[in-house]
Amino acid sequence: MEIQQLFESHGQNQVFRFWKELSEQERSQLVSQAEEIDLRELDNLVDTLVKRKGETAHLDYSKLQPAPYLPIPEDRSKDAQWQEAKRIGEEALRAGKVAAFTVAGGQGTRLGYDGPKGTFPVTPVKSKSLFQVFAEKIQAARVCYQSSIPWFIMTSDINHQATVSFFEENDYFGLEAGSVSFFRQGRMPAVDFEGKIILDGKGSIAMSPDGHGGALRALDRSGSLDAMQKAGIEAISYFQVDNPLVQPVDPYFIGFHLKTGSTMSSKMLPKAYEKEKLGHFCVLDGTTQIVEYSDMPDELCALRDEDGQLSFRAGSIAIHVISLSFARDLATGGSDLSLPFHRADKKIPFVDEAGEIQKPDTPNGVKFEMFVFDAIPFANNPLIIETTRLNDFSPVKNAEGVDSPESCKADQVALYKSWLEAVGVSVPDDFAHSIEISPLFATDSDSFVMAWSRKPQRLDFSGDIYISG
Ligand code: UD1
Repeated sequence: MEIQQLFESHGQNQVFRFWKELSEQERSQLVSQAEEIDLRELDNLVDTLVKRKGETAHLDYSKLQPAPYLPIPEDRSKDAQWQEAKRIGEEALRAGKVAAFTVAGGQGTRLGYDGPKGTFPVTPVKSKSLFQVFAEKIQAARVCYQSSIPWFIMTSDINHQATVSFFEENDYFGLEAGSVSFFRQGRMPAVDFEGKIILDGKGSIAMSPDGHGGALRALDRSGSLDAMQKAGIEAISYFQVDNPLVQPVDPYFIGFHLKTGSTMSSKMLPKAYEKEKLGHFCVLDGTTQIVEYSDMPDELCALRDEDGQLSFRAGSIAIHVISLSFARDLATGGSDLSLPFHRADKKIPFVDEAGEIQKPDTPNGVKFEMFVFDAIPFANNPLIIETTRLNDFSPVKNAEGVDSPESCKADQVALYKSWLEAVGVSVPDDFAHSIEISPLFATDSDSFVMAWSRKPQRLDFSGDIYISG
């Protein structure tokens, strides 16, 4: 069979070693998995990342500089530059030039939650899921800008069906079904430390999602870029599934992206402490890039300016605006523009020679992932703007402690308290309950002030407070 010969010629014939024992159905499943694999690409990854043959580009950390960013003014409403950006962003939103895009293909292993992460209940009073929060924010923006704002969600093989079913069961949280599009990201095979593809069943290759950087290929392959182009979209507002405080379409951010002619823009926050797990915005030889927290040397994390601030303080919160034309260039531009793969050593279940499934206790193989932020070095005018934590970032990543469901709920309550205070409602000091405000009522302090003036409410602080849309 042709495919077997092909694998053999790349030294991967072990993939078919149980062939004789497989049923017809198992054989065709194995073949279709095998056909997904680009063996030339894999050979190259094995040489460079697994066997580390030849030149591996090492980052020269001594040359790394902190990347400049646009700081947020104390009061954006009094800053002409920010107001102009907001006007441009709102215009683009009204003209239907913006799509929202969520990457939701990850497995949420650290959280210890089984379902798709977007289905995780996250709000303090109503326990709305992450997906519901985004859906309501997008719905609010659609009403505000009288515009369709399509929403694209990238899933992976592992959670695609469960994600789609969740939306169906919940009537798309009030959004029109056709205005939400789901597509699967690509997969990569896992290999052992010799570079051999691992089987996790006699007729099954250990495949895993190819990282959020796979979004660019998948946007193209799924026809989403064509659909966006047809709809007149120019800017893709990108965010991760784990952060309910995100503003899915922020007019200031979109406006700055358009106004400066950037093709990929990013939001930053000053890191809260040296080792906060955020990618670092850096410049190397004049090129802006993100150095992931796990790769950043401790001494650079700790480096301080004369005024005591961390030098490499600009942390990435994984919120970007990407121009449609740039996304297309990256997806189809060939090797000049292709994103690099990163190596992650993992414990990967495998079948042994006897055909038994083994679960190793220590890493036994390598998974390959691309990161979307590796596109920044290819971007024109990559812009970085500052935001504030409460208005944009409180992710749910860990079961407890920092970035946990607990800390995220506390941040949501703090945000809603600040909105109430802005309209003169003071929350009693001894208030021990929760507050939640529906995005359908307001999505930020300004819209809250407006909504409150139309619909002021008498709040009873003897229990939880929920303000609905
Ligand atoms: C990520 C960023 C980090 C940033 C931080 C902010 C990476 C490698 N690092 O860290 O620079 O400061 O978020 O919160 O991303 N995903 C997919 N498909 C995949 C893998 C991941 O869609 O194959 C999605 C996940 O569903 C999630 C997001 O990407 O929405 C982040 O992935 P995760 O692995 O949790 O990244 P972090 O380590 O938290």
